[in-house]
Amino acid sequence: MTVHATGRGQRPEVIPEQSDFEADILAGLAADPKRIPPKHFYDTEGSRLFEAITRQPEYYPTRTEIGILKTRAREIAEIIPANSALVEFGSGACTKVRILCDAVPALTAFVPVDISGPFLNRQAAELGHAYPRLAVHPVAADFSKPFSLPQDVRGMPKTGFFPGSTIGNFEPHETAAFLQHARTVLGAGAFLIVGVDLVKDAATLNKAYNDAAGVTARFNLNLLRRINRELQGRFDLRAFSHHAFFNPERSRIEMHLASVKSQTVAVAGRSFAFRAGERIHTENSYKYSLASFASLARGCGWTAHASWTDTDRLFSVHVLRTE
Ligand code: AVJ
Repeated sequence: MTVHATGRGQRPEVIPEQSDFEADILAGLAADPKRIPPKHFYDTEGSRLFEAITRQPEYYPTRTEIGILKTRAREIAEIIPANSALVEFGSGACTKVRILCDAVPALTAFVPVDISGPFLNRQAAELGHAYPRLAVHPVAADFSKPFSLPQDVRGMPKTGFFPGSTIGNFEPHETAAFLQHARTVLGAGAFLIVGVDLVKDAATLNKAYNDAAGVTARFNLNLLRRINRELQGRFDLRAFSHHAFFNPERSRIEMHLASVKSQTVAVAGRSFAFRAGERIHTENSYKYSLASFASLARGCGWTAHASWTDTDRLFSVHVLRTE
C-alpha cells in the first residue's frame, strides 16, 4: 500500500509488505527453476550485511560511484535548475544524496521514496535536520510501481536520483518500464541521475560477488535464515551454498543458492523437494556499457545529457533528460 506524508511532522501509516514476502517465497520455491526476488534480501540483518559488502575490497561499485558523484558534484550543480526537488527512488539510508545536498544549493526539496515506512521517516527526519533549507517529503511506496509525488513539490523542477546500480536488479524490460514510469512521475523537462555498473572482465566481476571474507555468501544465505524466522522455515544453512558468476550472454551477475544434497525442506507448513545441486536463483545484477545503457534510455524517452565513469571504467553515472 502507498501512503503520503503530506509535510513535516506528519506520520504516515504503512502496512508492512509481509504478505508479499510469503506469497513470493511460496510461489518461488514451487517454481521450476526455483527463484526468489532480490528485494527480499533486505531485512534488518540483510541490510546490515549489504552495508558490510560495500566495505569489502573486492566490491568496487559503492566506493567508485561515491567517487564519481564527488568528482562531478560541480557539474551536477550546474545542471540542476534553481528551486529543484530531488526525488530519490529507493532512498534507503540517504547517504549518497548528502553528496548532492552538499554540492547543489539549488535543491530546496527532497522526496525520498522507499517501501520501509518507519525507517524512511527516520532517515527523512535526519536529513531535514542536517539540511535545514531542504523541505523533506517522504513517500512510502514501492518505487517500481506507479505513485504520485506530494502536492508540495508540484510546479518545482524535478531531478530523479537512482544510485547504487539498483537498476541492475531489474530485467531489461523492467528497466524500460521503470524509465518510462520515472518519466511520467517526474514530468517534462526533468533530469534523472542514475548509477549503472559497467560490463568488464569476468574476473573483476566474479571477485566482487565472491569476496574472500564470505560476506556476500552470508548475505545470500541470510535469505534462508529470514524464511526460517518469518515463515517457520526449516532450512539447514549448512546444506546450501552460495554461487555467484558472470553470465556474459546475458551481461549479468547471477546469484544462486545451491542445495548440497537431495533434501526436502518445510516452509510455512508446505514441503519443497531439492535435488542434489538444485539451485534457487536469488539475484541478477545486470551490467551495461555506456552506449548500451544510453540507447536503452533513449528508447524510453530519455536523452543522455552527460555520462561519467571513473578512470578505471568500473562504474558509470548517467544524467538523463526528458523533452
Ligand atoms: C544493491 C543491487 C546494487 O547488484 O551489486 C551486492 C546487490 N548483491 N552483492 C549489486 C548485491 C550481491 C547490489 N545492488
